[in-house]
Amino acid sequence: MPNPSDQPPKNYMIAPKSVPPTEAPLSSGKRYILGITGASGAVYAARLLEQLLIQGHQVHLVVTDFGKRLLADEMNITSVSLSTMCPHLAADQHKALFASNLIIHPNKDVGATIASGSFLHDGMVILPCSSTSLGAIASGSGSNLLSRAAAVTLKERHTLVVCHRESPLNLIDIENMRTLTLAGAIIAPTNPGLYLLPTTVDELIDFTVGKALDLLKVPHALKTRWAE
Ligand SMILES: Cc1cc2nc3c(=O)[nH]c(=O)nc-3n(C[C@H](O)[C@H](O)[C@H](O)COP(=O)(O)O)c2cc1C
Repeated sequence: MPNPSDQPPKNYMIAPKSVPPTEAPLSSGKRYILGITGASGAVYAARLLEQLLIQGHQVHLVVTDFGKRLLADEMNITSVSLSTMCPHLAADQHKALFASNLIIHPNKDVGATIASGSFLHDGMVILPCSSTSLGAIASGSGSNLLSRAAAVTLKERHTLVVCHRESPLNLIDIENMRTLTLAGAIIAPTNPGLYLLPTTVDELIDFTVGKALDLLKVPHALKTRWAE
């Protein structure tokens, strides 16, 4: 695997940007949990976070240690904040609203609000999700906040979308996906369809992010539909 410090930033990693509405976005009253793990595809997470925030949703973000590494390797993000994840939102006139809607939890803090079934939310998505975290959630391990929040999401019968990325799959991954599906999770691998004839990496990213938003039942304007 190449040393990330030897690699220049990739253009596609800064390209996805949606313009916030000119009117102040009203707070939607909805809140989502976003988990980022050490699977490849950190840019998906940044795009998803942006899409949730510009719609006035509250986002509770938890990033594993390897998720932080992937943010650094793939996006040159070395600390997680609104200004690093969504720099154009941090520069926007509504930046105070976006900042107040982004709550970042340490993954070690299994006593955080999102670890409790008393925390009401509108869905959790793990994007990208590694095989390690897939296995931890399938085993019921609550040893870090991401897997604890996922377990609680399942027990409370909230939506859990697991956007796994790895290929090929071994039987352990397949069995873990089966277990989570039976427990109520939605497994949504990060494999974009090509039927919209994408010509840029951003379009591929939006396809996967749009699918995650659809599964969370969050309306969006990303170009992901075959036909309206
Ligand atoms: C550059 C890089 C890319 C990786 N890509 C993947 C991947 O796509 N899928 C995966 O399951 N693991 C991938 N890994 C390995 C995970 O980071 C590793 O298994 C780790 O234990 C995941 O831990 P976490 O789930 O707590 O983040 C990658 C690691 C690195 C350094």
